[in-house]
Amino acid sequence: MKTRITEMFGIEHPIIQGGMHFVGFAELASAVSNAGGLGIITGLTLKTPEQLANEIRRCREMTDKPFGVNLTFLPTLTSPDYPGYIRAIIEGGVKAVETAGNNPQKWLPALHDAGIRVIHKCTSVRHSLKAESIGCDAVSVDGFECGGHPGEDDVPNFILLPRAADTLKIPFVASGGMADGRSLVAAMALGAEGMNMGTRFMATKEAPIHDNVKAAIVAASELDTRLVMRPLRNTERVLRNSAVDRLLEKEKALGANLKFEDILNEVAGVYPRIMKDGDMDAGAWSCGMVAGLIHDVPTVKELIDRIMQEAHDIIRNRLAGFDAA
Ligand SMILES: Cc1cc2nc3c(=O)[nH]c(=O)nc-3n(C[C@H](O)[C@H](O)[C@H](O)COP(=O)(O)O)c2cc1C
Repeated sequence: MKTRITEMFGIEHPIIQGGMHFVGFAELASAVSNAGGLGIITGLTLKTPEQLANEIRRCREMTDKPFGVNLTFLPTLTSPDYPGYIRAIIEGGVKAVETAGNNPQKWLPALHDAGIRVIHKCTSVRHSLKAESIGCDAVSVDGFECGGHPGEDDVPNFILLPRAADTLKIPFVASGGMADGRSLVAAMALGAEGMNMGTRFMATKEAPIHDNVKAAIVAASELDTRLVMRPLRNTERVLRNSAVDRLLEKEKALGANLKFEDILNEVAGVYPRIMKDGDMDAGAWSCGMVAGLIHDVPTVKELIDRIMQEAHDIIRNRLAGFDAA
């Protein structure tokens, strides 16, 4: 399939793997890129710019195809060494960056001077327009369904994507709730030029996470995610577990008085315990409603080949059949 997204990033299929904390290591990013999509290393999971530079080198050893790096701009008090991470990306010869969180404007000139294409992840039309106006090359439009941070507007993709299509000039991919060939064709019908997947890529053989996490995703239905941290305006969609139940109890009890310190045990530093150790009740971890559509743990190549085959079948047979009738 050829779209402005495949052309922009030099990839065969219009499928991107979104940055994922403690998931998006070189093993997954290279597997996605080798299968014809755009794999993404999650920058901030690597604790220093030197570690990110090393991860970029590892990824390059595993694939000769294009891959990218996610840089998430967090509203934290102690800012990570963003200039150092940007340097590691540029010196590592990476040609695609997925930004997320706060406005990436400050970093665009350096990235563009190095010939890097920037795709900014947004959960609203107004943020997408802002991304376009400051010079981002593409947008990843992240609907309310998504795993991770859906923002505070709660607009699902059936509305968000056509609104983006009516408004944006730069190309965009659909993100949130994407799982298969049906998702891809639907997203493209609504105006997107590709799709971004997070949760679906976690349940693959190459995802370098504990098997317990993959099993939890396969076992989950679309009813099993919860929104946490809404009172802090830092809403996150996570898979329900005992830590999440505890967290929601605290939110209920403390109401508007809730502070981040109240829920530290449930959210701070829990990712390695879950993703590496498989301790599934260690805390809240991002997971999309799309878990309800995930029933197996294929290789990344099996998954992407299956998606593309299904998408072609839908377009050529199912949809063309309706059109001809
Ligand atoms: C476990 C997990 C961790 C994530 N970590 C990040 C992150 O660090 N930065 C980021 O921009 N997005 C992050 N995301 C969001 C994904 O990149 C992607 O936008 C989202 O998963 C899409 O929704 P889906 O899960 O329904 O496919 C994360 C998602 C998951 C499931």
